[in-house]
Amino acid sequence: MLAEKRILLIIGGGIAAYKALDLIRRLRERGARVVPVLTKAGEEFVTPLTVSALAGEKVYRDLFDLTDEAEMGHIQLSRAADLVVVAPATANLMAKMAGGHADDLASTLLMATDKRVLIAPAMNVRMWEHPATRRNLATLAGDGVLVVGPEAGAMACGEFGPGRMSEVPQIIAAIEAALGAGPLAGRHVLVTSGPTHEPIDPVRYIANRSSGAQGTALAAALRDLGARVTFVTGPATVPPPGGVRVVRVETADEMLEAVKAALPAEAAVFAAAVADWKVENASGQKIKKTAEQAVPTLAFGENPDILASVSKMEAGRPRLVVGFAAETEAVEANATAKRARKGCDWIVANDVSPGTGIMGGSENAVTLITAEGAEAWPRLSKDETARRLAARIAAALG
Ligand code: C5P
Repeated sequence: MLAEKRILLIIGGGIAAYKALDLIRRLRERGARVVPVLTKAGEEFVTPLTVSALAGEKVYRDLFDLTDEAEMGHIQLSRAADLVVVAPATANLMAKMAGGHADDLASTLLMATDKRVLIAPAMNVRMWEHPATRRNLATLAGDGVLVVGPEAGAMACGEFGPGRMSEVPQIIAAIEAALGAGPLAGRHVLVTSGPTHEPIDPVRYIANRSSGAQGTALAAALRDLGARVTFVTGPATVPPPGGVRVVRVETADEMLEAVKAALPAEAAVFAAAVADWKVENASGQKIKKTAEQAVPTLAFGENPDILASVSKMEAGRPRLVVGFAAETEAVEANATAKRARKGCDWIVANDVSPGTGIMGGSENAVTLITAEGAEAWPRLSKDETARRLAARIAAALG
Protein backbone atom coordinates (compact mmCIF):
# COMPACT_ATOMS: atom_id res chain seq x y z
CA MET A 1 0.00 0.00 0.00
CA LEU A 2 1.04 3.55 -0.60
CA ALA A 3 -0.73 5.25 2.29
CA GLU A 4 1.06 8.39 3.45
CA LYS A 5 3.47 8.27 0.48
CA ARG A 6 3.99 11.48 -1.40
CA ILE A 7 4.76 11.15 -5.09
CA LEU A 8 5.98 14.00 -7.24
CA LEU A 9 4.64 13.14 -10.70
CA ILE A 10 6.23 14.89 -13.66
CA ILE A 11 4.09 14.61 -16.77
CA GLY A 12 6.07 15.04 -19.99
CA GLY A 13 4.75 15.84 -23.44
CA GLY A 14 3.64 12.68 -25.21
CA ILE A 15 0.44 10.95 -26.26
CA ALA A 16 0.92 8.63 -23.26
CA ALA A 17 0.23 11.61 -20.95
CA TYR A 18 -3.38 10.42 -20.90
CA LYS A 19 -2.24 7.34 -18.96
CA ALA A 20 -0.74 9.66 -16.35
CA LEU A 21 -4.28 10.81 -15.53
CA ASP A 22 -5.35 7.27 -14.70
CA LEU A 23 -2.08 6.78 -12.82
CA ILE A 24 -2.98 9.72 -10.57
CA ARG A 25 -6.38 8.17 -9.77
CA ARG A 26 -4.98 4.72 -9.05
CA LEU A 27 -2.23 6.12 -6.83
CA ARG A 28 -4.75 8.14 -4.85
CA GLU A 29 -6.96 5.07 -4.48
CA ARG A 30 -3.98 3.42 -2.79
CA GLY A 31 -3.67 6.28 -0.36
CA ALA A 32 -0.79 8.12 -2.00
CA ARG A 33 -0.64 11.88 -2.28
CA VAL A 34 0.25 12.92 -5.84
CA VAL A 35 1.84 16.31 -6.43
CA PRO A 36 1.71 16.94 -10.19
CA VAL A 37 4.15 18.86 -12.35
CA LEU A 38 3.31 19.51 -15.99
CA THR A 39 5.97 20.37 -18.54
CA LYS A 40 5.18 22.90 -21.28
CA ALA A 41 4.94 20.05 -23.78
CA GLY A 42 2.82 18.05 -21.34
CA GLU A 43 0.26 20.86 -21.35
CA GLU A 44 -0.26 20.24 -25.06
CA PHE A 45 -1.61 16.77 -24.24
CA VAL A 46 -3.47 17.14 -20.92
CA THR A 47 -4.85 20.27 -19.34
CA PRO A 48 -3.61 21.63 -16.00
CA LEU A 49 -7.23 21.71 -14.83
CA THR A 50 -7.76 17.97 -15.41
CA VAL A 51 -4.47 17.11 -13.73
CA SER A 52 -5.09 19.24 -10.70
CA ALA A 53 -8.72 18.09 -10.37
CA LEU A 54 -7.68 14.43 -10.41
CA ALA A 55 -4.75 14.98 -8.05
CA GLY A 56 -6.74 17.22 -5.72
CA GLU A 57 -3.62 19.41 -5.67
CA LYS A 58 -2.29 22.49 -7.34
CA VAL A 59 -0.43 21.60 -10.52
CA TYR A 60 3.08 23.05 -10.69
CA ARG A 61 4.14 24.39 -14.07
CA ASP A 62 6.50 27.29 -13.90
CA LEU A 63 9.95 27.60 -12.37
CA PHE A 64 9.59 31.33 -12.00
CA ASP A 65 6.27 31.34 -10.20
CA LEU A 66 7.35 33.66 -7.40
CA THR A 67 4.51 32.80 -5.05
CA ASP A 68 5.59 29.19 -5.10
CA GLU A 69 9.20 30.19 -4.66
CA ALA A 70 8.26 32.14 -1.57
CA GLU A 71 5.96 29.45 -0.19
CA MET A 72 7.98 26.39 -0.92
CA GLY A 73 10.61 26.70 -3.61
CA HIS A 74 11.64 24.16 -6.16
CA ILE A 75 14.25 22.64 -3.86
CA GLN A 76 11.72 21.89 -1.17
CA LEU A 77 9.13 20.70 -3.69
CA SER A 78 11.57 18.10 -4.98
CA ARG A 79 12.63 16.96 -1.52
CA ALA A 80 9.27 16.73 0.18
CA ALA A 81 8.43 13.78 -2.08
CA ASP A 82 9.10 10.14 -1.20
CA LEU A 83 9.61 9.34 -4.88
CA VAL A 84 9.82 11.32 -8.10
CA VAL A 85 8.04 9.69 -11.05
CA VAL A 86 8.36 10.86 -14.64
CA ALA A 87 5.50 9.55 -16.79
CA PRO A 88 5.65 9.82 -19.69
CA ALA A 89 9.42 10.32 -19.86
CA THR A 90 10.00 11.60 -23.38
CA ALA A 91 13.27 11.29 -25.31
CA ASN A 92 13.81 15.00 -24.66
CA LEU A 93 13.24 14.74 -20.90
CA MET A 94 15.59 11.75 -20.71
CA ALA A 95 18.24 13.69 -22.64
CA LYS A 96 17.86 16.65 -20.31
CA MET A 97 18.13 14.41 -17.27
CA ALA A 98 21.19 12.62 -18.63
CA GLY A 99 22.81 15.94 -19.53
CA GLY A 100 22.01 17.62 -16.23
CA HIS A 101 19.95 20.44 -17.74
CA ALA A 102 17.83 22.62 -15.48
CA ASP A 103 16.02 25.04 -17.76
CA ASP A 104 12.44 24.52 -16.63
CA LEU A 105 10.61 23.41 -13.50
CA ALA A 106 10.61 19.65 -14.30
CA SER A 107 14.32 19.41 -15.14
CA THR A 108 15.25 21.64 -12.19
CA LEU A 109 13.27 19.44 -9.79
CA LEU A 110 14.98 16.37 -11.21
CA MET A 111 18.37 17.97 -10.61
CA ALA A 112 17.50 19.20 -7.13
CA THR A 113 15.88 16.09 -5.70
CA ASP A 114 17.57 13.85 -3.17
CA LYS A 115 14.95 11.11 -3.66
CA ARG A 116 14.83 8.17 -6.02
CA VAL A 117 13.58 8.86 -9.52
CA LEU A 118 11.52 6.41 -11.57
CA ILE A 119 10.95 7.07 -15.26
CA ALA A 120 8.35 5.49 -17.56
CA PRO A 121 9.71 6.17 -21.05
CA ALA A 122 7.33 6.66 -23.96
CA MET A 123 8.38 7.53 -27.49
CA ASN A 124 8.44 6.40 -31.08
CA VAL A 125 10.33 3.14 -31.61
CA ARG A 126 13.08 4.79 -33.72
CA MET A 127 13.59 7.42 -31.03
CA TRP A 128 13.79 4.69 -28.37
CA GLU A 129 16.34 2.77 -30.42
CA HIS A 130 18.37 5.85 -31.37
CA PRO A 131 21.96 5.65 -30.13
CA ALA A 132 21.48 8.94 -28.27
CA THR A 133 18.56 7.50 -26.26
CA ARG A 134 20.56 4.30 -25.64
CA ARG A 135 23.43 6.41 -24.28
CA ASN A 136 21.09 8.51 -22.15
CA LEU A 137 19.39 5.43 -20.76
CA ALA A 138 22.75 3.91 -19.81
CA THR A 139 23.77 7.20 -18.15
CA LEU A 140 20.52 7.38 -16.21
CA ALA A 141 20.77 3.74 -15.10
CA GLY A 142 24.32 4.46 -13.95
CA ASP A 143 22.98 7.42 -11.95
CA GLY A 144 20.58 5.06 -10.17
CA VAL A 145 17.44 6.20 -11.99
CA LEU A 146 14.81 3.43 -12.02
CA VAL A 147 13.11 2.58 -15.30
CA VAL A 148 9.78 0.89 -15.99
CA GLY A 149 9.09 -0.15 -19.59
CA PRO A 150 8.63 0.76 -22.31
CA GLU A 151 6.56 -2.08 -23.71
CA ALA A 152 6.55 -3.37 -27.25
CA GLY A 153 3.37 -3.08 -29.30
CA ALA A 154 1.38 -0.97 -31.71
CA MET A 155 2.08 2.73 -31.21
CA ALA A 156 -0.08 5.80 -31.61
CA CYS A 157 2.15 6.87 -34.52
CA GLY A 158 1.23 3.70 -36.42
CA GLU A 159 4.59 1.95 -36.00
CA PHE A 160 5.24 -1.20 -34.02
CA GLY A 161 7.95 -1.99 -31.51
CA PRO A 162 9.27 -0.96 -28.10
CA GLY A 163 8.31 2.57 -27.07
CA ARG A 164 4.81 2.38 -25.60
CA MET A 165 4.64 3.59 -22.05
CA SER A 166 3.98 0.77 -19.55
CA GLU A 167 0.41 0.35 -18.45
CA VAL A 168 -0.71 1.87 -15.15
CA PRO A 169 -0.60 -1.41 -13.11
CA GLN A 170 3.04 -1.94 -14.12
CA ILE A 171 3.97 1.62 -13.23
CA ILE A 172 2.24 1.21 -9.86
CA ALA A 173 4.12 -2.04 -9.26
CA ALA A 174 7.39 -0.26 -10.02
CA ILE A 175 6.45 2.61 -7.69
CA GLU A 176 5.61 0.15 -4.92
CA ALA A 177 8.89 -1.67 -5.49
CA ALA A 178 10.83 1.60 -5.43
CA LEU A 179 9.17 2.48 -2.13
CA GLY A 180 9.67 -1.02 -0.74
CA ALA A 181 5.91 -1.48 -0.61
CA GLY A 182 5.36 -4.42 -3.00
CA PRO A 183 4.01 -7.80 -1.84
CA LEU A 184 7.52 -9.30 -2.02
CA ALA A 185 9.21 -6.39 -0.22
CA GLY A 186 12.39 -7.57 1.43
CA ARG A 187 11.99 -11.20 0.29
CA HIS A 188 15.00 -12.86 -1.31
CA VAL A 189 14.25 -14.71 -4.55
CA LEU A 190 16.77 -16.52 -6.71
CA VAL A 191 16.40 -16.77 -10.50
CA THR A 192 18.65 -18.69 -12.90
CA SER A 193 18.61 -17.73 -16.56
CA GLY A 194 20.30 -18.07 -19.92
CA PRO A 195 22.24 -20.95 -21.46
CA THR A 196 25.42 -22.46 -20.12
CA HIS A 197 28.65 -22.76 -22.09
CA GLU A 198 30.55 -25.99 -21.68
CA PRO A 199 34.16 -25.64 -22.83
CA ILE A 200 35.80 -27.98 -25.33
CA ASP A 201 39.08 -26.11 -25.04
CA PRO A 202 39.93 -22.51 -24.06
CA VAL A 203 38.37 -21.08 -27.25
CA ARG A 204 35.55 -23.48 -28.11
CA TYR A 205 32.41 -24.44 -26.26
CA ILE A 206 29.08 -26.23 -26.53
CA ALA A 207 26.04 -24.02 -26.01
CA ASN A 208 22.30 -23.85 -26.71
CA ARG A 209 19.92 -21.30 -28.20
CA SER A 210 18.46 -19.92 -24.97
CA SER A 211 18.35 -16.09 -25.10
CA GLY A 212 17.61 -15.62 -21.40
CA ALA A 213 14.50 -13.56 -22.28
CA GLN A 214 12.03 -15.39 -20.02
CA GLY A 215 14.38 -15.56 -17.02
CA THR A 216 15.25 -11.88 -17.41
CA ALA A 217 11.58 -10.89 -17.62
CA LEU A 218 10.85 -12.95 -14.54
CA ALA A 219 13.67 -11.40 -12.50
CA ALA A 220 12.38 -7.94 -13.49
CA ALA A 221 8.79 -8.84 -12.56
CA LEU A 222 9.86 -10.19 -9.14
CA ARG A 223 11.95 -7.05 -8.58
CA ASP A 224 8.90 -4.95 -9.46
CA LEU A 225 6.97 -6.69 -6.68
CA GLY A 226 9.68 -5.62 -4.26
CA ALA A 227 11.75 -8.80 -4.10
CA ARG A 228 15.49 -8.74 -3.53
CA VAL A 229 16.51 -10.77 -6.56
CA THR A 230 19.73 -12.68 -7.11
CA PHE A 231 20.00 -13.34 -10.83
CA VAL A 232 22.42 -16.13 -11.70
CA THR A 233 22.88 -16.00 -15.45
CA GLY A 234 24.80 -17.88 -18.08
CA PRO A 235 26.02 -16.02 -21.18
CA ALA A 236 22.59 -14.78 -22.37
CA THR A 237 21.95 -12.54 -25.36
CA VAL A 238 19.39 -10.40 -23.51
CA PRO A 239 21.03 -7.99 -21.00
CA PRO A 240 20.24 -8.60 -17.30
CA PRO A 241 17.61 -6.37 -15.69
CA GLY A 242 18.62 -3.39 -13.56
CA GLY A 243 18.04 -3.36 -9.83
CA VAL A 244 18.92 -7.01 -9.21
CA ARG A 245 22.12 -8.66 -8.01
CA VAL A 246 23.69 -10.23 -11.09
CA VAL A 247 26.03 -13.23 -10.80
CA ARG A 248 27.53 -14.22 -14.14
CA VAL A 249 28.58 -17.81 -14.77
CA GLU A 250 29.55 -19.88 -17.79
CA THR A 251 29.22 -23.57 -16.99
CA ALA A 252 26.61 -25.69 -15.20
CA ASP A 253 29.14 -26.45 -12.45
CA GLU A 254 29.70 -22.73 -11.90
CA MET A 255 25.94 -22.14 -11.92
CA LEU A 256 25.44 -24.75 -9.19
CA GLU A 257 28.16 -23.13 -7.06
CA ALA A 258 26.65 -19.67 -7.57
CA VAL A 259 23.18 -20.94 -6.66
CA LYS A 260 24.45 -22.59 -3.48
CA ALA A 261 26.33 -19.43 -2.53
CA ALA A 262 23.20 -17.31 -3.10
CA LEU A 263 20.97 -19.39 -0.80
CA PRO A 264 19.04 -19.06 1.46
CA ALA A 265 16.14 -17.70 -0.56
CA GLU A 266 12.39 -17.88 0.00
CA ALA A 267 11.75 -18.91 -3.59
CA ALA A 268 14.01 -20.14 -6.37
CA VAL A 269 13.07 -20.16 -10.03
CA PHE A 270 15.22 -22.15 -12.44
CA ALA A 271 14.66 -20.68 -15.88
CA ALA A 272 18.17 -21.41 -17.15
CA ALA A 273 18.67 -23.81 -20.04
CA VAL A 274 21.44 -25.77 -18.38
CA ALA A 275 23.49 -28.07 -20.63
CA ASP A 276 22.83 -31.68 -19.71
CA TRP A 277 26.36 -32.69 -20.56
CA LYS A 278 29.82 -31.26 -20.25
CA VAL A 279 32.94 -32.24 -22.16
CA GLU A 280 34.86 -34.42 -19.80
CA ASN A 281 38.05 -34.46 -21.83
CA ALA A 282 38.10 -30.67 -22.40
CA SER A 283 41.60 -29.60 -23.30
CA GLY A 284 43.58 -27.03 -21.33
CA GLN A 285 45.18 -25.88 -24.60
CA LYS A 286 43.56 -25.05 -27.92
CA ILE A 287 43.11 -28.30 -29.85
CA LYS A 288 45.17 -28.00 -33.02
CA LYS A 289 44.04 -29.10 -36.43
CA THR A 290 47.02 -30.94 -37.88
CA ALA A 291 47.39 -33.16 -40.90
CA GLU A 292 48.62 -36.08 -38.82
CA GLN A 293 46.11 -35.89 -35.94
CA ALA A 294 42.73 -37.57 -36.23
CA VAL A 295 39.50 -35.58 -35.76
CA PRO A 296 39.14 -35.17 -31.95
CA THR A 297 36.60 -37.24 -30.07
CA LEU A 298 34.71 -35.54 -27.28
CA ALA A 299 33.81 -37.56 -24.19
CA PHE A 300 30.67 -36.30 -22.45
CA GLY A 301 29.94 -36.42 -18.75
CA GLU A 302 26.75 -35.55 -16.93
CA ASN A 303 26.27 -32.06 -15.50
CA PRO A 304 24.76 -31.61 -12.05
CA ASP A 305 20.99 -31.11 -12.09
CA ILE A 306 20.74 -27.80 -10.24
CA LEU A 307 16.94 -27.78 -9.98
CA ALA A 308 16.81 -31.34 -8.61
CA SER A 309 19.61 -30.80 -6.14
CA VAL A 310 18.03 -27.64 -4.69
CA SER A 311 14.57 -29.28 -4.65
CA LYS A 312 15.96 -32.20 -2.67
CA MET A 313 17.99 -30.19 -0.16
CA GLU A 314 17.38 -31.46 3.34
CA ALA A 315 18.13 -28.21 5.10
CA GLY A 316 17.64 -24.70 3.81
CA ARG A 317 15.42 -25.61 0.85
CA PRO A 318 13.60 -22.55 -0.51
CA ARG A 319 9.90 -22.67 0.41
CA LEU A 320 8.95 -22.58 -3.26
CA VAL A 321 11.07 -24.18 -5.99
CA VAL A 322 9.98 -23.61 -9.59
CA GLY A 323 11.43 -25.34 -12.63
CA PHE A 324 10.85 -24.87 -16.34
CA ALA A 325 10.27 -27.57 -18.90
CA ALA A 326 10.71 -27.00 -22.61
CA GLU A 327 8.90 -29.81 -24.38
CA THR A 328 8.09 -30.57 -27.98
CA GLU A 329 5.37 -33.19 -27.40
CA ALA A 330 2.95 -34.39 -24.69
CA VAL A 331 3.75 -31.19 -22.78
CA GLU A 332 1.46 -31.74 -19.81
CA ALA A 333 2.29 -35.41 -19.27
CA ASN A 334 6.04 -34.90 -19.62
CA ALA A 335 6.06 -31.82 -17.41
CA THR A 336 3.99 -33.54 -14.72
CA ALA A 337 6.45 -36.44 -14.71
CA LYS A 338 9.34 -33.95 -14.57
CA ARG A 339 7.83 -32.21 -11.55
CA ALA A 340 7.79 -35.51 -9.66
CA ARG A 341 11.27 -36.55 -10.83
CA LYS A 342 12.93 -33.25 -9.94
CA GLY A 343 11.08 -32.82 -6.64
CA CYS A 344 10.18 -29.18 -7.32
CA ASP A 345 6.89 -27.52 -6.35
CA TRP A 346 5.90 -26.09 -9.73
CA ILE A 347 6.88 -26.67 -13.32
CA VAL A 348 6.31 -24.00 -15.93
CA ALA A 349 5.99 -26.01 -19.12
CA ASN A 350 6.03 -24.74 -22.65
CA ASP A 351 5.79 -26.21 -26.09
CA VAL A 352 8.91 -25.23 -28.03
CA SER A 353 8.15 -27.21 -31.20
CA PRO A 354 9.58 -25.39 -34.24
CA GLY A 355 6.19 -24.08 -35.49
CA THR A 356 5.39 -22.22 -32.25
CA GLY A 357 8.08 -19.52 -32.60
CA ILE A 358 8.45 -19.57 -28.82
CA MET A 359 12.15 -20.45 -28.55
CA GLY A 360 13.96 -17.14 -29.08
CA GLY A 361 10.63 -15.32 -29.69
CA SER A 362 8.92 -12.67 -27.59
CA GLU A 363 5.82 -14.70 -26.67
CA ASN A 364 5.20 -17.75 -24.58
CA ALA A 365 2.28 -20.12 -23.97
CA VAL A 366 2.82 -22.00 -20.73
CA THR A 367 1.11 -24.66 -18.68
CA LEU A 368 1.65 -24.30 -14.95
CA ILE A 369 1.95 -27.67 -13.22
CA THR A 370 1.44 -27.63 -9.45
CA ALA A 371 0.39 -30.21 -6.86
CA GLU A 372 -3.21 -29.27 -7.74
CA GLY A 373 -2.86 -30.13 -11.41
CA ALA A 374 -2.24 -28.40 -14.74
CA GLU A 375 -3.34 -24.90 -15.72
CA ALA A 376 -2.99 -23.80 -19.34
CA TRP A 377 -2.29 -20.08 -19.72
CA PRO A 378 -3.10 -18.19 -22.92
CA ARG A 379 -0.36 -17.16 -25.31
CA LEU A 380 1.12 -13.98 -23.81
CA SER A 381 4.23 -11.85 -24.16
CA LYS A 382 7.15 -13.21 -22.12
CA ASP A 383 6.88 -10.04 -20.00
CA GLU A 384 3.21 -10.68 -19.22
CA THR A 385 3.88 -14.37 -18.55
CA ALA A 386 6.61 -13.26 -16.13
CA ARG A 387 4.30 -10.81 -14.35
CA ARG A 388 1.62 -13.46 -13.88
CA LEU A 389 4.14 -15.94 -12.59
CA ALA A 390 5.65 -13.37 -10.23
CA ALA A 391 2.17 -12.57 -8.89
CA ARG A 392 1.53 -16.29 -8.31
CA ILE A 393 4.85 -16.62 -6.50
CA ALA A 394 3.97 -13.63 -4.30
CA ALA A 395 0.56 -15.19 -3.52
CA ALA A 396 2.15 -18.56 -2.70
CA LEU A 397 4.69 -17.02 -0.33
CA GLY A 398 1.84 -15.18 1.36
O1 C5P B 1 15.44 -31.89 -17.38
P1 C5P B 1 15.22 -30.59 -18.04
O2 C5P B 1 16.50 -29.97 -18.56
O3 C5P B 1 14.16 -30.57 -19.09
O4 C5P B 1 14.66 -29.68 -16.86
C1 C5P B 1 14.47 -28.34 -17.03
C2 C5P B 1 14.50 -27.64 -15.70
O5 C5P B 1 15.59 -28.12 -14.91
C3 C5P B 1 14.74 -26.17 -15.85
O6 C5P B 1 14.11 -25.52 -14.76
C4 C5P B 1 16.25 -26.06 -15.74
O7 C5P B 1 16.67 -24.77 -15.30
C5 C5P B 1 16.56 -27.12 -14.72
N1 C5P B 1 17.87 -27.78 -14.90
C6 C5P B 1 18.85 -27.58 -13.97
N2 C5P B 1 20.06 -28.22 -14.09
C7 C5P B 1 20.27 -29.05 -15.13
C8 C5P B 1 19.27 -29.26 -16.09
C9 C5P B 1 18.08 -28.61 -15.95
O8 C5P B 1 18.66 -26.82 -13.02
N3 C5P B 1 21.44 -29.67 -15.24
